[in-house]
Amino acid sequence: MTMMDKIKETVVFLQEQGVENVDFGLILGSGLGELADEISNPVMIDYADIPNWGKSTVAGHAGKLVYGTLSGKKVLALQGRFHFYEGNPLDVVTFPVRVMAELDATGVVVTNAAGGVTHGPGTLMLINDHINFTGQNPLIGENLDAYGPRFPDMSSAYDKGYQATAKIVADRAGIDLQEGVYMGFTGPTYETPAEIRFAETIGADAVGMSTVPEVIIAVHSGLRVLGISAITNHAAGKQAELNHEEVVEVTTRIKGTFKTLIKQILEEI
Ligand code: HPA
Repeated sequence: MTMMDKIKETVVFLQEQGVENVDFGLILGSGLGELADEISNPVMIDYADIPNWGKSTVAGHAGKLVYGTLSGKKVLALQGRFHFYEGNPLDVVTFPVRVMAELDATGVVVTNAAGGVTHGPGTLMLINDHINFTGQNPLIGENLDAYGPRFPDMSSAYDKGYQATAKIVADRAGIDLQEGVYMGFTGPTYETPAEIRFAETIGADAVGMSTVPEVIIAVHSGLRVLGISAITNHAAGKQAELNHEEVVEVTTRIKGTFKTLIKQILEEI
């Protein structure tokens, strides 16, 4: 089956489950999936039941698609995303974004837990740009001309209007929202201290193992992107050691503020 046929098959399946018009896609990173619990009149679909869909294997990722209303907007939320390090090919990692675009979403809100290079644990960071350090690109291969151009312009991958709105909303809500550049690695190892010195030298503010592939496909599909990182730890070399438990613990601590921020931004965009 061609990629286009797969996208169409999945869209038809979702429509049969009650997914209608979508304003925004939400990609909820590690420990941030709870936002989907606040969606009203939810249609919930297990990933395992969706044709052409990947499998989510990381603890802290639920593996459910939730459709409904949040902040007055129709949203399609991924409670648990797919990572390249899980062994998913990038067309599987980014397939949900293709489906969101096919369902006529205007934009996508992409979130993640990330290591802080210039920001400390507990910070919420508005992503204003990224560095693709994965050595991969989900658009390698035949271009789907019906969806977007062969050579997409990444000059404004993260929508400037959404960024402006996010800052105004954070200010009004008294939420400290920092901003910066997200540098994407494949994982699953955390970075080495030398890699983090390199990341800092070339302008990264946060590092993580997701987001970049989805944002590339979103840009290709003409979706506007808002990216928010929850900084869960100082990146390697800036604190004694790194572990997933700390990432989960800090995410748990800041997810309330994270949810408030996203909900209020959704009201305004
Ligand atoms: N590096 C990469 N990914 C991460 C980190 C980190 O330090 N923290 C949370 N996700």
